[in-house]
Amino acid sequence: MDKELFPEKGRDYEEIMDIIEEANERDVKFGSGHVFGSMCSEPLEITKKVHSMFIEANLGNPGLCRGTERLKNEVNRAISSLINAPDDCESLTIGGGTEGNILALWRARNETGNRRVILPKSAHFSFLKACDILEMEPVYLPSDENYLPDLELLEEMIDDSIAAVVGVAGTTELGLIEPIEEMADIVGDIHLHVDAAFGGLVIPFLKELGYEMPAYDFEIDGVDSLVLDPHKMGLSTIPLSIFYSREPLSFSVEAPYLSGERQRTLRGTRSSASISAFWATMNFLGREGYRQIIAQCMENTRYLLKELKSIGLEPIIEPLMNIASFHQDNAEKVVKEMERRGYNISRTVDPSGLRFVVMPHVNKENIDAMTKELSRVIG
Ligand SMILES: Cc1ncc(COP(=O)(O)O)c(C=O)c1O
Repeated sequence: MDKELFPEKGRDYEEIMDIIEEANERDVKFGSGHVFGSMCSEPLEITKKVHSMFIEANLGNPGLCRGTERLKNEVNRAISSLINAPDDCESLTIGGGTEGNILALWRARNETGNRRVILPKSAHFSFLKACDILEMEPVYLPSDENYLPDLELLEEMIDDSIAAVVGVAGTTELGLIEPIEEMADIVGDIHLHVDAAFGGLVIPFLKELGYEMPAYDFEIDGVDSLVLDPHKMGLSTIPLSIFYSREPLSFSVEAPYLSGERQRTLRGTRSSASISAFWATMNFLGREGYRQIIAQCMENTRYLLKELKSIGLEPIIEPLMNIASFHQDNAEKVVKEMERRGYNISRTVDPSGLRFVVMPHVNKENIDAMTKELSRVIG
């Protein structure tokens, strides 16, 4: 064992804090104005404060943590009305979109006995982890010329070996909403899971702001499960995701030493801090606050579009939400060079491009400074 890394005797408080502060300073902060590639943002003061108040609470032990259990139930009910989930749906508070996607496939595999899952080309890489863990086989559905799932091919691919079909509302690379309603019609009784990790807390507010948005949630009868992430556009602290299922999950285990509850989530012990922080954030901002924040993100997205077009970049699609991606053959090189210059932008693979997520921490001033730097990099 490295004795320096795990010292025999405890070190000085001051000495420890010096090292911690240095490490903390090296993490790029959203407030730096240099982060354009993240789907998370800086939490509000109230969010941080409430998070730190629940540091010792365990959502996995509801008998012991009755307070956070109540907050959790209220959040899950409030969000279920945003996504038209039935009153008796099952909701599970989990740690991220990845966990939600694993739960969806786990359940589909168990209930059908099948192992093949149809994934749109846009599907997040978390589905590959899910397939590996669950020994399932991903079958990719090609996209049409608009980067959306090819519905004719979907029809051809459907047979009785399929465990589930996935649709995405807010694709990671382009922020597209896939035609979930049409997909539901095609797949019939086959399990349809909607990955709304990003879009789930954007689309409802865009609708309220008067944007035309396709149906994507439990409003569609064929949607069986949906995951959304408050730690993305919900502005909660990390990690927080909610998994909704129209029907109760068939699998659960008894957890006798923990207040006699049954557990359905993958993780047992899990922090109550983010769900409590999200309860506070939702109540502090109200729907009006979220609408204002999202309206500003959309205005900034349009501004970014204008600025990047002015330096010769072509958008891959007209953004539907606050994700804007631009054609760029040398995307990997450009992203690396921008990183060297202190900027975090990300890239798309299909097609190759530069990707910007216009989160609440991004403003026009940051966009101007980043555009200047980017124009030097792409020449
Ligand atoms: C559409 C989509 N699904 C799932 C995920 C995975 O979420 P997490 O990293 O919170 O597990 C992401 C992450 O960006 C995503 O964009």
